[in-house]
Amino acid sequence: MPRKVIIITDPGQDQAVAILMALAAPEHFEILGIVTSAGNISLDFTQKNARKLIELAGRTDVPVFAGCPRPIHRKLVTAEHVHGPTGLDGSDLPEPIVPLQEEHGVDFIIRTLRQLPAGSVTIFSESPLTNLAMALIKAPDIAEKISEIVMMAGAYFEVGNITPSAEFNIYVDPKAADIVLRSGIPMVMLPLDVTHKLLSTPERLDRIAKLGNRAGRTVAGLLSFSEGFDLNKYGWEGAPLHGPTVPAYMIRPEIFGGRQVNVTVEIGSELTLGMTVVDYWQITDRVRNVFYVTEADSDAYYQLIAELIGRLP
Ligand code: RIB
Repeated sequence: MPRKVIIITDPGQDQAVAILMALAAPEHFEILGIVTSAGNISLDFTQKNARKLIELAGRTDVPVFAGCPRPIHRKLVTAEHVHGPTGLDGSDLPEPIVPLQEEHGVDFIIRTLRQLPAGSVTIFSESPLTNLAMALIKAPDIAEKISEIVMMAGAYFEVGNITPSAEFNIYVDPKAADIVLRSGIPMVMLPLDVTHKLLSTPERLDRIAKLGNRAGRTVAGLLSFSEGFDLNKYGWEGAPLHGPTVPAYMIRPEIFGGRQVNVTVEIGSELTLGMTVVDYWQITDRVRNVFYVTEADSDAYYQLIAELIGRLP
C-alpha cells in the first residue's frame, strides 16, 4: 500500500534526484502534492524546477504548489554557489508547460490534511521547514493528521556546512525548525552525519549516466555539476548525496541506522544560529523527539537510486 506523502522541497540538484525517485515509485508513494520552498535558490526557480521534474518523469498528474518566498523571521539565504543560478544547472530540461497550482502551498497542506484521517500522511521534507511550520501555526489541528515527518536536515558530529555549526536546511529558517521540532509529531532526521557517508563516487555516477534513459543522463549531469563545490571543499572521493536519503529511508529503512534522541535547535545566538544540538548520549531529560540517523549502507543506497531512476523515461 503506498504511503500518502506531501513533498516539501527546494530543487536543487540533490532534491531533484529525490523527487524523481518518488515519482518513479508509485508502489511506495501516493504523492498528494509537491510544495516548493525558497532555499537553495529563490521560489520562482524552485517551483519552475519542480514542474520541469514532473514533466521529465512523465508524472504531470502530481500538482506543484509554491509556498512561502522567504523564511519566517530572517532574510532568505540561498546557495547558488553550490547549485548554480537556476538550481538545476548541469541539465538542459525545457521550460515547463504544466501550470503551477494557484493555491498557496501552505493552504494546500492545511486543506489536504484536514480532508484526511488522523495519522494518514507522511511529510517528505528536504528543504527549509518554513512551509510546514507556517501550516502548523495557521492550523494546529493538522498535526494529528501527520503520521511522520521524514526530513533531510541537521548535523551534529559532522558540524555545519553553511556555517561552522549549522546545516543549510535548518540555517535558512531556524525558527521554523524549532516549531517543527517542538510539534510532538514523530520525526526522522537524516543529517549530514549520515549523508557524508553516502558519496557519489565516479563509479556510482557513471552507472547512473549509463542507465540508457534521459532521466539517468539528466541525474548524472545534475550531480556532476553540484558535486563540484563539495569535492573541492572536502577533498573526498565523491560528494555527499543528501536529498535521496528521504525516499530511500521511506522505502528501505533497514539500510539505515540511528537512535531516538533529543534534537533542539539554536535560535538565539548569532554565532551558532541553526545549530542542531543532539543529546546523542542522553545526558539530559529532554524529550527524545527525533529518530536521528547516523548510519547507512551506501552500496544499497546507490543501488536503489539507480533502480528507481532507471524506471523513468
Ligand atoms: O545541507 C545539505 C542540504 O542543503 C542539501 O539538500 C542541499 O541541497 C541544501 O539544500
